[in-house]
Amino acid sequence: MRRLVIVGTQWGDEGKGKITDYLAQNADLVVRYQGGNNAGHTVVFDGKKYSLHLLPSGILNPKIDNVMANGMVINPKAFVEEISKVSDFSLHISDRAHVVLPYHLELDKAYEALKGSKNIGTTHKGIGPTYTDKSSRIGMRVSTFIHEERFRSSLYELIREKNIELGLLKHPLLNFEAIYNEYSVYAKVMAPYVTDTSLYLNQAIESDKKILFEGAQGVLLCLDHGTYPFVTSSSPTASSVPLNTGIAPWLVEGAIGVTKAYTTRVGSGPMPSEIHSELASHIRTVGNEFGTTTGRPRRIGWLDTVILRHTKRVSGLSYLAVTLLDVLTGIDELKIAISYTLDGVEIDRIPAEIEDFERCIPNYITMPGWHEDITQVKSYDDLPINAKNYLFRIVELVGVPIGMFSVGPDRNQTIMVKNIF
Ligand code: GDP
Ligand code: IMO
Ligand code: MG
Repeated sequence: MRRLVIVGTQWGDEGKGKITDYLAQNADLVVRYQGGNNAGHTVVFDGKKYSLHLLPSGILNPKIDNVMANGMVINPKAFVEEISKVSDFSLHISDRAHVVLPYHLELDKAYEALKGSKNIGTTHKGIGPTYTDKSSRIGMRVSTFIHEERFRSSLYELIREKNIELGLLKHPLLNFEAIYNEYSVYAKVMAPYVTDTSLYLNQAIESDKKILFEGAQGVLLCLDHGTYPFVTSSSPTASSVPLNTGIAPWLVEGAIGVTKAYTTRVGSGPMPSEIHSELASHIRTVGNEFGTTTGRPRRIGWLDTVILRHTKRVSGLSYLAVTLLDVLTGIDELKIAISYTLDGVEIDRIPAEIEDFERCIPNYITMPGWHEDITQVKSYDDLPINAKNYLFRIVELVGVPIGMFSVGPDRNQTIMVKNIF
């Protein structure tokens, strides 16, 4: 495959950054197509750890061309901070991406506070309000942001309107001049990278370049197919790539579903296979399960194949990349959720109503674990038999072959099973 999408199959943090970085060694371009700096993608190589939020995970490799496509929402302040930490890179930013402005962050916080205990547990990065403004046709595109006069006049109008909303929410108001002065500096930093990335990508495809489309979040956080309303405000599915990058749907050749060997979730919302015993804190410690963006402890659960079959159906998955397999080492018995029971009836789907999903009780199979250290294995054959059986069972239950797996955070702790890219 020459154009492959990296999709998170669960609730995010599956190791998309690591898998993108690994496959990028064979790529010409890496494209982020949705979300913003709510994402936190970790890349580890040569003993160094990098946390990327907005920049595509190819940015650390000087041979890769990176694209931030039209489906993204870009916080200019966060962008300038992130770009200052990297050197020797190639980057193109879509003129049609939307800009996250200070009032989006304030509104995100204000609406979460209003919801009280029923909040979504957002990252407070202004993602929801920015996509809301995009659909309400009152957002600001990057093309306007980098145009001095248009930016000034449209920011003036927008802040006037948003201050009315913030006032109603009893939230401190924003000062136009201060924001304009600060953000016009960021606009100058961003401007040289801005282009029509749809044109750029289509030209790259015509030149037969190899492209990775790096999803953020995970399909269960998809606005359409996730556990609404406990979702983000964009679509991380493979099917959202054409719309969010400006290429034809048939140019996407496949998707690799990055799947944590268990399940994690940050933020609120149901998680049927959540583990409530001491084992959860053991896995959290071993897997270092704390948010890359917010530092929040991640909730831990058993692998849930109802979710994975859902992701396979709504997104499309050609292969799985199973990550963090090493974290399960030393656990005597591993459970895998294979269906749910809802009101006494066995189901194999995710109910649309969140109140119904909350009442789903998972049905598990139990598999024997392994105790051997697997962090140095170099091939599937090196794995202990119980780890092989665990992977084999996932393939059987999900109906998608494993293309690669991962046994540690480092780039070289990645094992290719199939030649997929
Ligand atoms: P992303 O948002 O999908 O890119 O994932 P994150 O980077 O937020 O979270 C994944 C975490 O797991 C990071 O800390 C990675 O360094 C780490 N990681 C990735 N693959 C493995 C693995 O196979 N084993 C272990 N132990 N850690 C891994
Ligand atoms: P990566 O790309 C895990 C979650 C938030 C919250 C919900 C909505 O690192 O996998 P938002 O700020 O997007 O409005 O929050 O989505 N969330 C993530 N969880 N990984 C992410 O990104 C996430 N991005 C958003 O915790 O529950
Ligand atoms: Mg993450």
